[in-house]
Amino acid sequence: MLLKRLVFFGGKGGVGKSTLSCAVALRLSKEDKSLLVSIDPAHSLSGILGLPIGHEVKKIRENLHALELSAERLVEEYTERVLRSLEDLLPHVRSGLKEYAKYLKHSPTALETAILDHLLDLCQDYAYVIVDSAPTGQMLRLFETAHMVKGWFDFLTRLAKEREKVQAFMGKKDSLLSLIEERKSRVERLLNILKEKSLVFAVANEEPLSLEEAQEIKRSLRDMKVYIVLNRWRSMEGDFIKVQEAERPYGIEALESLRVEEIVGFVKGG
Ligand SMILES: Nc1ncnc2c1ncn2[C@@H]1O[C@H](COP(=O)(O)OP(=O)(O)OP(=O)(O)O)[C@@H](O)[C@H]1O
Ligand SMILES: [Mg+2]
Repeated sequence: MLLKRLVFFGGKGGVGKSTLSCAVALRLSKEDKSLLVSIDPAHSLSGILGLPIGHEVKKIRENLHALELSAERLVEEYTERVLRSLEDLLPHVRSGLKEYAKYLKHSPTALETAILDHLLDLCQDYAYVIVDSAPTGQMLRLFETAHMVKGWFDFLTRLAKEREKVQAFMGKKDSLLSLIEERKSRVERLLNILKEKSLVFAVANEEPLSLEEAQEIKRSLRDMKVYIVLNRWRSMEGDFIKVQEAERPYGIEALESLRVEEIVGFVKGG
């Protein structure tokens, strides 16, 4: 499946990120195979759609799947994967690696790294992936982490190349470099998706602080396409995508009548 767009909804708490993610995902699923993912630890897709959704991908209807990532399970699974590949490579320091895994699990960007790694896999199977993010800080940290991890793997690659030379000199084969290069190529693929295929909708409402925060997202993500959405729009003028106030934006039927055509238009063509 060829990914057409990876779409993020970000913005201040309570501005409508989850509601708009759901409404846009419902609309896009009429065009092509779509996935709605919540990466906000305080999930709300289940409540908004009125369906039980969990950590595993669940079919909502034709062409639409959804999941609410469990931060704990994601970090656990990611750390396990890293540990297993390192154990194969360095069996003589197995107990040291277990210690390392413990620190890795609690490192400050463990969750973001695990989310990014998982998103890359999810992007393989869908044309549209719609991400409902946590309020601004976490979303920005997610993008920063992607660049930080790339820098880290560049550094590790240089070290592994040196190590390979030494091993070769001693007549030994070293598979550390290929492991690191494989991980690095995953990060590069992800960065490429973020650069080429991603859109960010910075959601705000007519409350000035929320609009300031959306503008801050646009300023911070200068190398990504960012559009500001004024949700629950009543009268404010300006160069924003506008979504009107709805009476009851819960449940599939009500969400389908939310006027999100302009957002969908940018996803399909922007
Ligand atoms: N266009 C709209 N018209 C009417 N109500 C809306 C609209 N968009 C969102 N709401 C309401 O605003 C509230 C917050 O919406 P939502 O949960 O989508 O925001 P959020 O940004 O995801 O919040 P959080 O930061 O807590 O995740 C909900 O009660 C929702 O029903
Ligand atoms: Mg939300």
